[in-house]
Amino acid sequence: MKVMIAPSLLSCDFAHLGREVEAIAKAGADLVHVDVMDGHFVPNITIGLPVVRSLKKISPLPLDVHLMISHPLKYAAEFAKAGSDYITFHIESEDDTAATLAAIRDGGAKAGLTLRPGTPVERLLPYLPEVDMVLIMTVEPGFGGQSFMADMLPKIEVVRRWKDEHKPHMLIEVDGGINKDTAPLAIAAGADVLVAGSAVFGRSDYAAAIAQLRP
Ligand code: DX5
Ligand code: ZN
Repeated sequence: MKVMIAPSLLSCDFAHLGREVEAIAKAGADLVHVDVMDGHFVPNITIGLPVVRSLKKISPLPLDVHLMISHPLKYAAEFAKAGSDYITFHIESEDDTAATLAAIRDGGAKAGLTLRPGTPVERLLPYLPEVDMVLIMTVEPGFGGQSFMADMLPKIEVVRRWKDEHKPHMLIEVDGGINKDTAPLAIAAGADVLVAGSAVFGRSDYAAAIAQLRP
């Protein structure tokens, strides 16, 4: 499977959001990563439903929505209706994991499950039959521009082994500190999708930045 690149809008120029999405699509990105933060699950506040609705109207790429919020079940159906193609939430959130996965899928989106760096990957395993994408966080969620935590690589390997044995079409995404030096580590461990914020939007040539992340 070809490695997919999902630039994270967190590092883009929010004053020109539509233009930024069109630019990464032209530059060869595969997905648009949208970081939703509620100021409660994580200290930061970013964007919400109205922005996802507007992005859906103009984005040539699927929307990969990463919910860093305390109550994903409350909002799952609305994010699906707003046009999210993938909706990923944290297993440490306050809502029931199985019910949230079901709400996302019932809403017509693909369901993703993720975890903080301090959470053991084994906690995800019972839910994987109902999961379309696993997101392994390689930074503490909340902010762009942090350093890649190489000690998270074994988590990618554990999920990769499970995927190869049980569910080859499930996607493994890696988010946080991805750049030209760390992308090969994540890919070697088994990643299918790489999220990159500062490594794409921090550069003037998006096409070159995206190409550098591919194997
Ligand atoms: C962090 C977000 C990431 C972030 C990645 O909480 O989930 O998607 O934008 O940014 P970089 O690639 O700069 O680490
Ligand atoms: Zn993210």
